[in-house]
Amino acid sequence: MTSIQTPPRIIVALDFPVAEPALELVAELDPSLCRLKVGKEMFTRLGPAFVERLAAKGFDIFLDLKFHDIPNTVAAACAAAADLGVWMVNLHASGGRRMMETARERLERLPERPLLVAVTILTSLGEADIAEVGFSGTPVENVLRLARLTDDCGLDGIVCSPREAPDVRPQVGRDFLLVTPGVRPRDASLDDQQRVKTPLDALQGGADMLVIGRPITAAPDPLASLRRIQAEIAGFQR
Ligand code: C5P
Repeated sequence: MTSIQTPPRIIVALDFPVAEPALELVAELDPSLCRLKVGKEMFTRLGPAFVERLAAKGFDIFLDLKFHDIPNTVAAACAAAADLGVWMVNLHASGGRRMMETARERLERLPERPLLVAVTILTSLGEADIAEVGFSGTPVENVLRLARLTDDCGLDGIVCSPREAPDVRPQVGRDFLLVTPGVRPRDASLDDQQRVKTPLDALQGGADMLVIGRPITAAPDPLASLRRIQAEIAGFQR
């Protein structure tokens, strides 16, 4: 298994509707400087072959499909992701203990397995939204409960907001991975992100891996933008 704390800490979110601009961008990037995230849109349009193509270029791939189904189905989907050679795959912690444990056990049978992380509460949901689907308490209380459950189920970490990371960090094991989107370099546009942290602030607040999209993918010189962010976090040690 890939070591949890190995650099690079930046995961570039490839959010494109077609393959060409994504492949042009990837041709400018370097696997020693970043990993890549493929989400639901690209995967649904371009399929497993696209993921394999990126992995064949030497990049670690985070397959961000947020599985949520009965335990057997999620475990089988995680095993299918492992067959693609991805570095990390995720599911929804609200799928429950049996779903998470079954998925982890299935991956542990493999000679080489991807990291398995959970989404706790989507950051798009506020208190009224989660109340409407039957969760009591604030979003952050639910994030903490589901983070502890995820850790207890033996998964490798969670995806969370960099604003939640300082609350989550003391509640989970030392090697438990916090993967945070919602990151913006100081000089970058916020795009549609509302509550962001800079890359260094996110790491200092307990994040391990940073998911960054448009500040790199929409930059006139993506590699230069990636290198600037790397330079900003270069001195950081956990
Ligand atoms: O372009 P940007 O840096 O905003 O991209 C962030 C990536 O992280 C996107 O792929 C987005 O879907 C994902 N994400 C997020 N916020 C969350 C969860 C995932 O921005 N709470």
